[in-house]
Amino acid sequence: MEKKKTFYISTPIYYPSDNLHIGHTYCTVMADAMARFKRLAGYDVMFLTGTDEHGQKIQKKAEAKGVSPIAYVDEIVDNILELWKTMEISYDDFIRTTEPRHEKRVQEIFLKMYEKGDIYKSEYEGWYCTPCEAFWTENQLHDGLCPDCGRPVEKAKEEAYFFRLSKYADKLIELFKTTDFLQPETRVNEMLAFIDQGLEDLCISRSSFDWGIPVPIDDKHVIYVWLDALSNYVTALGFPELPGESSEKYQKYWPCDVHLVGKEIVRFHAIIWPAMLMSIDAPLPKHVLGHGWILLEGGKMSKSRGNIVDPVKLIERYGVDALKYFLLREYTFGQDGLFTNEVMLNRLNYDLANDLGNLLSRTVSMIEKYNEAQVPPAGPSKGTDQALKDLALGCYARVAEHMDHFRFNQALEEIWVLIRRTNKYIDETAPWILAKEEASKSRLDAVLHNLAESLRIVSILIYPFMHTTATEIRSQLGLWYAEPEWKDAAVFDCMNGEIVKKGKAIFPRLDIEEEITALEAMKESEEAQTDLPPEIPYKEPIDFADFDKIDLRTGVILSADKHPDADKLLVFQVRMGREVRQIISGVAESYKPEDCIGQQVIVVANLKPRKLRGKESNGMLLFANDRDKFTFALTKARDGEVVS
Ligand code: MSP
Repeated sequence: MEKKKTFYISTPIYYPSDNLHIGHTYCTVMADAMARFKRLAGYDVMFLTGTDEHGQKIQKKAEAKGVSPIAYVDEIVDNILELWKTMEISYDDFIRTTEPRHEKRVQEIFLKMYEKGDIYKSEYEGWYCTPCEAFWTENQLHDGLCPDCGRPVEKAKEEAYFFRLSKYADKLIELFKTTDFLQPETRVNEMLAFIDQGLEDLCISRSSFDWGIPVPIDDKHVIYVWLDALSNYVTALGFPELPGESSEKYQKYWPCDVHLVGKEIVRFHAIIWPAMLMSIDAPLPKHVLGHGWILLEGGKMSKSRGNIVDPVKLIERYGVDALKYFLLREYTFGQDGLFTNEVMLNRLNYDLANDLGNLLSRTVSMIEKYNEAQVPPAGPSKGTDQALKDLALGCYARVAEHMDHFRFNQALEEIWVLIRRTNKYIDETAPWILAKEEASKSRLDAVLHNLAESLRIVSILIYPFMHTTATEIRSQLGLWYAEPEWKDAAVFDCMNGEIVKKGKAIFPRLDIEEEITALEAMKESEEAQTDLPPEIPYKEPIDFADFDKIDLRTGVILSADKHPDADKLLVFQVRMGREVRQIISGVAESYKPEDCIGQQVIVVANLKPRKLRGKESNGMLLFANDRDKFTFALTKARDGEVVS
């Protein structure tokens, strides 16, 4: 038997730090459509996804919740698995970085790099962004904040292991300049500019926390989470080969055809990952494709800011296929796009309910009514028939061409050109008029046949994107007996005698205004839930007399300055009635001094004065600690935060 061509596609492995939102599902939906398309076209497909479970961010989240990191991630991973099941994501493997099959292989990779002479021990001094799990030098920060996400960074100073990334700069430049490894082109320029700034060796171990894979030669350190995470693309295939365990999948599928990743993590995939592979002498993936972000009107989606769109809510209301169609049709690969309820609802109404839903219900109803529910055989062609046939027959090649370039939206647009043309064909041929005259029965049959054929082709073409809808269309057309095959989209005139059966409307028409009101109401109730405080246990109850010892006053911040000898401290002058006091607080990482001036605050006025790094602090300002450990002045905090 001829060996099938293979196709290996991966999504990033998601952080199980929170449940996933619609932005995360975007990449997985694209990968799923591509995997299904390739399977339909006869490839032996490997579609990998999973979760990236180590690192400081997860450890901090678990601590804040008072549970172990593994208990914390287990719960969210279950939700992620449930989400993919609901969304009918056809992955072939789901890898968790806490699985032994992964952990022991990451240690092997580390050892291989070490044996190559590419890892050495030194001291790290710089900045760390915990949400991005990324190291930065002073120069790379933007206004002292993480250049990727704009959040505060923490100073990190520790003994650590380093990867000689700088050694691979020239090879990486050559890779970008001489191959189509990285796409779209704009990302190539970003990477070249990044290397141009000077590629420094990469710190690849941490010793300030322990939620990670131990460095195999030094168990005081854990392996840097990105080195751990990137390795998933080969560890899932059984590489490096371990005694008694198979690496058959690695032999079969590696190098990967495409790593699909969001634009902000292209750097890790296009610089660190190939350099790691070069270090261990393994082949590089064929392509890394960076996609854009789905944005909300307020900017990027963020759980901690409470502005996310929950895919589960949309699926419950509109169905999986509607959401998949919208994500794939609306956004252009590589570019950012805006999500609004109006844009989504219009797509669902016009494209799905009007164009596709109507075509199916009209076609099936007419075949039921005018030919006792039987699809007639092909009849003689007229001019307008030929135009429809030509369009239908050419469609699969155009769709395939777009898919080969990850232009999901254009592939779908091609299919919708056919759908809209077929609807127009109904209007042009007016079967209800043909049905009035016995003499035009053969013409009527030919028209009904062409309609069924066109829909049959549509059912194959949309299968990779919305397979449940495709299957429903096929069942209403009486094609339940045949699995869709890509090659069958390249032929017309194969149906004859199938019994059609009208089913439910595949996409009911929506009242847009009503839906917008309902979605907004849902969002408000979600936001109220997002504002619930984390489950941090309360301290022991105290007597009123204890509480009454604290003298709380209101104050206004007159000035704020950085403490000359401590990075984390701000020195405030606070007016409380007639008195102005100097109070020092450890909030320099959350506030710029100039933003504090004029803020109203609550002061613990009778706290004994004490010196902080040589300066006296006379009292304490109250701040609230939210879940991401950002501190907010009390007057701006959400309900229920911890005051400290
Ligand atoms: N764990 C790392 C990836 C390691 S891969 C070896 C990670 N995880 S993540 O959960 O933060 O993000 C996963 C992916 O989701 C990224 O590719 C990111 O771009 C994508 N998205 C997150 N929000 C998004 C949008 N709003 N829109 C589109 N994609 C978005 O990074």
